[in-house]
Amino acid sequence: MKSSLNRTGPQSRTAIAIMAAGKGTRLKSKHPKVLHEVGGKALLAHVIVAARQVVDPQDIYVIVGHEADKVQHTVQSSGVQFVLQEPQRGTGHALMSAAPALVNYDQVIVLSGDAPLITAATISKLRDFHQQKKAAMTILSAQLDNPTGYGRIIREGSDVKAVVEEKSSTPAQRKIREINSGFYVFSTKPLFENIERLRTDNPHGEYYLTDMAAVLRKAKQRVAAMKTDYPSEILGSNTRAELVDIDRKMRHEKCLKLMSAGVTIFFPDTCVIDSDVEIGADTTIEPFVQLRGNTRIGSDCRIRSYSVIQNSQIANDVLVKPGCVLDEATISNGAILGPYSHLRPGSEIGEGAHVGNFVETKKIRLGKKSKANHLTYLGDAEVGDGVNIGAGTITCNYDGVHKHKTIIEDGAFIGSDATLVAPVKIGKGAYVAAASCITEDVPPDSLALGRAKQIVKEGWAKTKLEKR
Ligand code: UD1
Ligand code: MG
Repeated sequence: MKSSLNRTGPQSRTAIAIMAAGKGTRLKSKHPKVLHEVGGKALLAHVIVAARQVVDPQDIYVIVGHEADKVQHTVQSSGVQFVLQEPQRGTGHALMSAAPALVNYDQVIVLSGDAPLITAATISKLRDFHQQKKAAMTILSAQLDNPTGYGRIIREGSDVKAVVEEKSSTPAQRKIREINSGFYVFSTKPLFENIERLRTDNPHGEYYLTDMAAVLRKAKQRVAAMKTDYPSEILGSNTRAELVDIDRKMRHEKCLKLMSAGVTIFFPDTCVIDSDVEIGADTTIEPFVQLRGNTRIGSDCRIRSYSVIQNSQIANDVLVKPGCVLDEATISNGAILGPYSHLRPGSEIGEGAHVGNFVETKKIRLGKKSKANHLTYLGDAEVGDGVNIGAGTITCNYDGVHKHKTIIEDGAFIGSDATLVAPVKIGKGAYVAAASCITEDVPPDSLALGRAKQIVKEGWAKTKLEKR
């Protein structure tokens, strides 16, 4: 757990603190709230993406507590810093715990790890507003039709007198529709000079960061609120219903963004497209497609219905017919997949190659224009260019202990129902007869037959019938 003290620089130095230590009781989950996913990524990871557009990652402090190691592990590749809050005694206490890391900054922007729709534009605007107002605390507020559950902003003139949590509010206060988003900017000096004045005399027995509004007012400091023009950006995910609502909003936005970049998505509400997915122009996505993780799809592709593609790279002009499942696969230009192909991790499909009905591949390279069109398993195999793999071919790659490799060189022809017992090599241009069980290497340009010789008993059937 790293918490570093920073030098005071010549200009105004800004840190971002992201509160992510809470348990998330209302989700009724054994996993920490901020690791629940929307748009295919942890809530906290979305907040970090926005924060990184405003300050450098070394000035971002994620406050962790509940399942701290798990949370830290999930987002540490982003280069942010971590501060431990142990135990977790409320949002005010989260900032008390972060004081040693933040005290030498001029201001700190505080974000909530459970509100992933916030944008860098709004964060920057809030920071500028705070500086303009010369406030000690600036709250991002929003006017909501249904403010239930949120803290309410009590105004005094154009400034803020206090924030009241729903549970502690009077019926009159509950009618206020201007709510606290949970995003703030604080000038660190008044914040840390006064934070010890927070009390826990509230229904949760916690230190509420929201109470800093009243505390700072009492200390004759200015507390401002900037009302956002985009209330949907502040939505928090405290319950499963809120979580899926945010997920839907995020994916809808993603589809709109892709469409404006030239991608056709039919019935977008039926598609599940994660926020990091990239798709080139003139690609068409049919209804009920899922594109997950860091999948990248080029231009002029067509992804037909019911395909689920995860962490895969697809080049241009690729046709994925209905019902394909791809995971960590790489597909070159002009390839055709499906219907119902299953490409497992490490499948590399060459230019113009075909992988067809009920074909499963794993850790293979299928060369240019090679075809495996029907009912085949190819695992741990190197298949050259222009190879034809007949229906029902199986690479027997596993002996119960180890995995072995099958090599099929350029131009080879594997007849239907062949069983290739690895390790084995089929030479360039060789033929394997249908229904052969191949246990030894086949030299180039030869024919291998590995099946029982056919016996024909003429008239046998007729005689049997007559006897009956
Ligand atoms: C908070 C605000 C509320 C506001 C709402 C907006 C308080 C007391 N209330 O309520 O006014 O309308 O956000 O979404 O702040 N956390 C910690 N340490 C803790 C407790 C919480 O890091 O000890 C983190 C949580 O992981 C979460 C964030 O702080 O990411 C906010 O906590 P949460 O419990 O969700 O607060 P709300 O009830 O939503
Ligand atoms: Mg919340």
